[in-house]
Amino acid sequence: MPFEIVRNDITKMKVDAIVNAANNSLLGGGGVDGAIHAAAGPELLAECRTLGGCATGEAKITGGYRLPAKYVIHTVGPVWRGGQYGEEAALTACYQNSLKLALEYKCETVAFPLISAGAYGYPREDAIAIAVSTISAFLLQNDMMVYLVVYGHESLDAGRKLFRDVQEYIDDVYVDKHLEANHENRRRSIWHEKAAKMEELDEMALFESTSIGNAAPMLAPSAVADLDELLKKTDKGFSETLLDLIDEKGMTDSECYKKANVDRKLFSKIRSNPSYRPSKTTAFAFAIALELNLPETEDLLRRAGYAITHSSKLDVVVEYFILNRRYNIYEINEQLFERDMPLLGSGTN
Ligand code: APR
Repeated sequence: MPFEIVRNDITKMKVDAIVNAANNSLLGGGGVDGAIHAAAGPELLAECRTLGGCATGEAKITGGYRLPAKYVIHTVGPVWRGGQYGEEAALTACYQNSLKLALEYKCETVAFPLISAGAYGYPREDAIAIAVSTISAFLLQNDMMVYLVVYGHESLDAGRKLFRDVQEYIDDVYVDKHLEANHENRRRSIWHEKAAKMEELDEMALFESTSIGNAAPMLAPSAVADLDELLKKTDKGFSETLLDLIDEKGMTDSECYKKANVDRKLFSKIRSNPSYRPSKTTAFAFAIALELNLPETEDLLRRAGYAITHSSKLDVVVEYFILNRRYNIYEINEQLFERDMPLLGSGTN
């Protein structure tokens, strides 16, 4: 998944580069700056001393030393002073310049903290919105795995109103598993009764046809023809259906998998294997990227062997966004992240 929100301590991230929310001196401080210097060891400060500081919005790169990360990209976020002093542009530049440096140093994986959202006082919801929009814009043009690291038990605080609306929908629609299971069991037993009845009728029909002396084949010729017809019409698989939908929507493959927050490698696996079965979150991710309505989404998921069920809160959250035609996968992932649910996109399959 090219962009993922994770709950972690950034100094533990095994990525090519972690980004430090530094100050203009680059000589260390508290918060994530302090944690990174403490974990990297004194060599980091020694190298920082040679950099001559860093302007707000700019970024500079050093080695990672004792960190699991190979590099540290130091960037200096704006101090929040009410929003009229170019804070948004400066914070956007922090993410852009850090990503540019990561690209120059051929980093494939990068982890960001929430720059300026701590001591520098940037309102969290706005800081997150800038991080998500800047990173996702970059990922439309570049292949990289980017993590946004939320520290400890901090809440993402993304879209409080949206969080409430989604929560209301979950409360209305979500059905506890055991209740749903009872519904399903009842439905299943009715189905079994019906199937048994049909079998009985078939046996009687078969008996009659053999008992009048003609050695009726196990299946009447017309039935065999229907069966062939039926087999010909067997559903297209997920992969073929996805490619048809991409063409129908007039998208390119890369536009689609990037909008689905799915990495190129996984997409080519899906494209080259007609019987490929993706994870449910990947199937959902493509439905969002293609901006499918609910019946179209149900059809696409069915071809991967899944059904949307109200006994899964993840399904209910995604259904909320589809019914409201809100197809920003990062917005959906923020709501899923807030509820500690798996995010949409590939992960591995
Ligand atoms: N891993 C990930 N995120 C962390 C960690 C960590 N180990 N420690 C803190 N954070 C989070 C904070 O919870 C906050 O959400 O990083 C975000 C940024 O907070 P700060 O570190 O305070 O950075 P910032 O708001 O940009 O202020 C920068 O603080 O530490 C000083 O020297 C730094 O002067 C500079 C100022």
